[in-house]
Amino acid sequence: MKNVLVIGSTGQIGSELTMKLRKIYPSGNIVAGYIKGAEPKGELLESGPSMEVDITNAQQIADAVKKYDVDTIYNLAALLSAVAEAKPLLAWKIGIGGLMNTLEVARELKCAVFTPSSIGSFGPNAPKDGTPQDTIQQPRTMYCVTKVSGELLSNYYALKFGVDTRSVRFPGLISYVTPPGGGTTDYAVDIYYSAVKGEKFKCPIKPGTFMDMMYMPDALRAAIEIMEADESKLVHRNSFNIASMSFDPEIIYNKIKEYVPNFEMEFEPDPLRQAIADSWPNRLDDTCARVEWGWKPEYDLDAMTRDMLEKLRIKFAK
Ligand code: SER
Repeated sequence: MKNVLVIGSTGQIGSELTMKLRKIYPSGNIVAGYIKGAEPKGELLESGPSMEVDITNAQQIADAVKKYDVDTIYNLAALLSAVAEAKPLLAWKIGIGGLMNTLEVARELKCAVFTPSSIGSFGPNAPKDGTPQDTIQQPRTMYCVTKVSGELLSNYYALKFGVDTRSVRFPGLISYVTPPGGGTTDYAVDIYYSAVKGEKFKCPIKPGTFMDMMYMPDALRAAIEIMEADESKLVHRNSFNIASMSFDPEIIYNKIKEYVPNFEMEFEPDPLRQAIADSWPNRLDDTCARVEWGWKPEYDLDAMTRDMLEKLRIKFAK
């Protein structure tokens, strides 16, 4: 991996992954692909090349790959789960139409492709605790349908055409840099913002609802390590379960309260997000990722909470 195109570079994952790749590969072209209305700014704009790359436009993907001699594409374009439920056709167009465009360009121009899947790819019929790597995947919401379809399509391109596709099933991702939008797990980001702003948090998810979560530095490392893994050791490709922590709203609230004793929370469940959360696993089994490419998380809930609160306080003090 030396020249990389990040599609969706200004989004929640892309904005941080692009900067990390530029630090790791200082002599490579790490291209920040963006769509109109979400152009890169500041350090993201100034520290490397950027180009308009709308994932629904195959020509723009091919132009960027040719111009910068790209060998690896990170496909991070997606609508998150609650938004995708409101706009299912657009979610499919971006999630699967966009992935098809990316895979076709990768096949022709010989690129490796990373396309994240999600804890949402399983659906309500999979085992909830210790959800295995290989198990039933029958999700019922559009975001989750695009994720499991994307896994299958990516594996098809690897088997049929030899395209080096690899990915991980991300848990809810928590970061202080770029806020997510429209996800079911986003409450676990918003809760830190409320704590630091001194506001009472209105939690859209009911107590007792457990989901896998992960601090962004671990997620970025996973996205890079899977693409650098020794291919001969990979039994799986799309997508690997990865995990670091699982909690419900009360556990994260009580953890934050250890550091912000006056913090208050009340429950105001959002029926759509609650129904989505109820259909997702409580905790994934990530043994295959650990065995096949050495996955190991670094942050637990306590370490993440200390870092989130510290970084958000600095952000709001500016
Ligand atoms: N974080 C995503 C969402 O909540 C799940 O992959 O939509």
